[in-house]
Amino acid sequence: MRTKPVNILGIETSCDETAAAIVADGKIVKSSVIASQNKLHEKYGGVVPEIASRAHIEKIYPVIAEAIAEAEATKDDIDAIAVANQPGLTIALVVGVTAAKALALAWDKPLIAINHLHAHLQSAMLTEENLQMPAVALIVSGGHTCLYDYRSPLEPQLLGFTIDDAAGEAFDKVANILKLPYPGGPAIEETAKKGNPIAINFPRSMLGPDSLDFSFSGIKTAVLYYCRGQDMKGDDKVDSMTSEEIADIAASFQAAVIDVLVKKTQRAAERFGAKTILLGGGVAANNELRSALQKMCDSTVPTKKLLIAPKQYCTDNAVMVASLGYHKFKAGLFADLTLEPKASG
Ligand code: KG4
Ligand code: ZN
Repeated sequence: MRTKPVNILGIETSCDETAAAIVADGKIVKSSVIASQNKLHEKYGGVVPEIASRAHIEKIYPVIAEAIAEAEATKDDIDAIAVANQPGLTIALVVGVTAAKALALAWDKPLIAINHLHAHLQSAMLTEENLQMPAVALIVSGGHTCLYDYRSPLEPQLLGFTIDDAAGEAFDKVANILKLPYPGGPAIEETAKKGNPIAINFPRSMLGPDSLDFSFSGIKTAVLYYCRGQDMKGDDKVDSMTSEEIADIAASFQAAVIDVLVKKTQRAAERFGAKTILLGGGVAANNELRSALQKMCDSTVPTKKLLIAPKQYCTDNAVMVASLGYHKFKAGLFADLTLEPKASG
C-alpha cells in the first residue's frame, strides 16, 4: 500500500495570475507562487487578453521553478501535473496548458485537466475532512457567478449562473465608474467602509421567484446613471462628489450585490435541503459577503455549516488546482497530450 504522499504540481494561467503550487495529498500546501499582473492591467481598468498572455509567457517557467524550489522538491517528487484548461481567456490558458504538457512529456508524468471554477470550489474544501451533504456552493469571481449542487469535488452540478455580468466584473466596472483603482473589488470594499449601505436603493435583480441565475448588469447601469445622469445624458458627477458621497455609492452597491448573492444562495439551499454552504472565488475575499453569508447560515432553520475559502486562496492561485488534481489523480482521471484550452466551462 502506498504511504508516500501524493504530490501534485498545479499550474494556473486562466486570467491575469501566473501561478504554480505543489500540494501533498490535496491538503498540505508545500509551495504557492503567484505572479500577479494587476499593475499591467491597472491603467486599462480591466484585463487585456494580449497583455495577459504575453505576461504569462514571460513568467510561467520562473513561477514553476520557484514553486518547485520553495517546496524543496525535485521532479522525482512530483506525481502528476494538474493544469487549469477551462474556462478562461484561451490565449492565457494556452500558456499554462502548453507548459504542463511539455513537463508531462519531458518528465513522463500524468497530466490532469482542471476546470478553474471547480478548483475555486475546492479552495473552500481545503481544510474540510467531513463534508455534510447535501451541500450548495457559490462561486463568485471576476468572470463567473455560479451556484452548484456540490456532491463531491469531482461532480459539482451547475444550478445557476449569471446571464450577463459576473459579480466581480460588476465590482470592477463600478470601481471604474467611481474612478477607484483596479482591481475594483478590494477598492470598493475599502471605500464602502466609510459609506452608508442604505443611502441609495440600487436595484436587486432576482430574475423571478424560482430562478437560481444572476444578473448584475442592471445594477452596474444604475450606478452609471446615478453618476452620469439618465441614459448618460448628464455630466460626470464623480469628479465633483465628496468622498462621503462616493463611499455611500460604493457601500450601497456592495450591499445590493451581497443581498442578491445571499438570497439566491439561501434559495438554492432551501431547495436542496443543504446542510453545508461553500463559498469561493475572488469576490469571496470580501468581508461583508463572508459575514452576510455566515449570518444567513446561522439564522436559517436548521442552521447550515459555512465553508469559505481561506482569503489567500479566494483569488486565482494554483493551490486550488493542485488540490483538485489530487482527487482526479485518485480517481484515475487523466488527460492526454492533445489537451486544449477552452474559453467556456
Ligand atoms: O477568482 P478571481 O481571482 O478571478 C477570476 O477567476 O475571475 O476573481 C477576481 C475578481 C475581481 O473581479 C476582483 O475585483 C474581485 O474578484 N475581488 C473582490 C475582492 N477581492 C477580489 N471583490 C469584492 N471584494 C473583494 N475584497
Ligand atoms: Zn478565478
